Amino acid sequence: MRITLSTLHRMAQEGNRIAMLTCYDASFAGLLEAAGVESLLVGDSLGNVLQGHETTLPVTLRDMVYHTQCVARGSKRAFIIGDMPFGTFQAGPQDAFRNAAEIMAAGAHMVKIEGGAPMLETTEYLATRGVPVCGHLGLTPQSVHQFGGYKVQGRSEGAAERLLEDAKLQERAGAGMIVLEAVPAALAREITASVTVPTIGIGAGVDCHGQVLVLHDMLDIFPGRKAKFVKNYMRAAGSIQGAVELYVKEVKARTFPGPEHSF
Ligand code: KIV
Repeated sequence: MRITLSTLHRMAQEGNRIAMLTCYDASFAGLLEAAGVESLLVGDSLGNVLQGHETTLPVTLRDMVYHTQCVARGSKRAFIIGDMPFGTFQAGPQDAFRNAAEIMAAGAHMVKIEGGAPMLETTEYLATRGVPVCGHLGLTPQSVHQFGGYKVQGRSEGAAERLLEDAKLQERAGAGMIVLEAVPAALAREITASVTVPTIGIGAGVDCHGQVLVLHDMLDIFPGRKAKFVKNYMRAAGSIQGAVELYVKEVKARTFPGPEHSF
């Protein structure tokens, strides 16, 4: 049976951790589901790990539609989230709706948009028109040039307060899930306790309702320096299937992320 947003909400309420990984094709969709991953994120990180770009900024709507279709064809069970790429949702709610509709028609069950307060109107517009929205707060990679690099967010008292407020406002606007990226674990814990929708952490400590990693990072396929929050599961497991099963097991047992993967 297909996992739905209600399933994930129930898991979060019952304290049953959600295992999410990025996924960009049909073969991996089947493999990840068989290993117990509940949600597949067709992330615009495909710009880095598939296309070889330095940032996610060049990823197009057409790229996202194509990869969402591939994942949807290979998936029978997981809840699929499609990223809205840079430039497809920032101009305004109506533009965002037209573009989100293409990603939903490609097979996504929810779209993810980066940003806090400035995106509230768009979140509300989509959520009230049948498009479930996942917010993405903290280190939002599409704003890398504004941040001046891939830096941990929410470290100062003021920045932490703004992030907490953004999460509450996103929920109020209709977001059904919130990804928290590269924020201190204590702040992610506070945000998770302050909202009723599932929070999914990446570099946000062990207390979020679920975890996500970029598939190519945790399988150690992607060359170059890894973020502190990445764990190399291939080293521990030796096979792709084993690596993904171990990730799911550690997410469920709350042994990943450890303090060494958190801020
Ligand atoms: O695109 C992506 O892979 C993401 C994750 C880093 C959360 O947005």
